[in-house]
Amino acid sequence: MTDPRNRVVQVGRFGGPDGLEVVDASLPTARRGEVRVRVLASGLEYTDVLIRRHLYPQTMRRRLPFVMGYDVVGEIDQLGDEVTGFQVGDRVGDMTVVGSNAAYRTLRADRLVRVPEGVDPAEAATLILSWTTAYQLLHRAARVQRGQRVLVQGAAGAVGQALLALGRLAGLKLWGTARGAQAALIRELGATPIDYQREDFTRVLLDGFDVVFDGIAQNEYRRSCAALKRGGLLCAYGYSAGVQAQRRMVTMLMWIARLYLWRWLPGGKHARFYSINVMRARHPDWFRDDLERLFSLLATGAIRPRVAERISFDEVAEAHRRLEAGGLAGKLVLCPDLKP
Ligand SMILES: NC(=O)c1ccc[n+]([C@@H]2O[C@H](COP(=O)([O-])OP(=O)(O)OC[C@H]3O[C@@H](n4cnc5c(N)ncnc54)[C@H](OP(=O)(O)O)[C@@H]3O)[C@@H](O)[C@H]2O)c1
Repeated sequence: MTDPRNRVVQVGRFGGPDGLEVVDASLPTARRGEVRVRVLASGLEYTDVLIRRHLYPQTMRRRLPFVMGYDVVGEIDQLGDEVTGFQVGDRVGDMTVVGSNAAYRTLRADRLVRVPEGVDPAEAATLILSWTTAYQLLHRAARVQRGQRVLVQGAAGAVGQALLALGRLAGLKLWGTARGAQAALIRELGATPIDYQREDFTRVLLDGFDVVFDGIAQNEYRRSCAALKRGGLLCAYGYSAGVQAQRRMVTMLMWIARLYLWRWLPGGKHARFYSINVMRARHPDWFRDDLERLFSLLATGAIRPRVAERISFDEVAEAHRRLEAGGLAGKLVLCPDLKP
């Protein structure tokens, strides 16, 4: 029998989506402590845009070319030596930061999270980066309390939608900024929409929000801070506005560093920056527990992540263009088995 063929999406040149290449690659072999998976689904995220543009701290030292792909749901097709607890055919997921936009890849067995039977692999893949980020922002970083008044910036985005859905389960009162055309989606997710092109979110609540989640960094996070009540908390986790405005990495890192100085300002407001990679490195057990919890919420139907489209390898560059253009109402997920 001939070996199956491997294909990967690699960055050949930092910059625009035309620097991406889909190429044939050799089939990897699982080494000691590893499994090989046939990839069923791998999400495409705005964070991939940062990586492709060479604006992502965790991948700044990567040499070209390298394979893209932040997360993976796959079926084990080979076990390396000394792997216990898994069998060929098991479905598993992991957050890999790079390397998962592929037909096959190897993964460390000790980092795998089991994907429950019967769940859709593309929906499961959306939970790994975007929903785990949202879950940890709410319950690990901000430690929200039922009844708190919370503003979600970029609420129609991948993390934003997850923040609203999980925030509703946590009993929060929610507002979400999004373009006007997404107002119905924001309402459906249980929040009050605020049109970011027409309305001023700093004037929505006279006494301010308890917590603001901001992955956009419009105005260097200043207006999100202005929307807080006395003693409120700003949880920043991204800087899409800086990327769109083609700001330099060092400039955006300074915005983040400055957040920690705001606690000395009058009004007792606090700000912090959340990174899923930093939290996973410090608390690998939290990552596993939180992703397992999300997988079981998916299995029971308590959450319904939106997949905007399942795409094939040949559509990945176009998917990156769509991510940058905005206006998506769900995630784009690479499903290697799909034919164009
Ligand atoms: N720190 C971490 O661990 C972590 C984890 C995951 C993601 N992130 C970062 O978080 C950010 C968001 O990620 P994502 O995957 O949710 O991205 P996404 O799916 O592209 O969502 C971003 C959303 O923000 C909206 N938006 C753009 N400008 C806005 C503005 N001025 N006001 C309000 N909304 C605005 C976009 O709306 P339109 O469609 O209308 O443009 C879009 O709905 C990215 O920068 C990503 O890199 C960080």
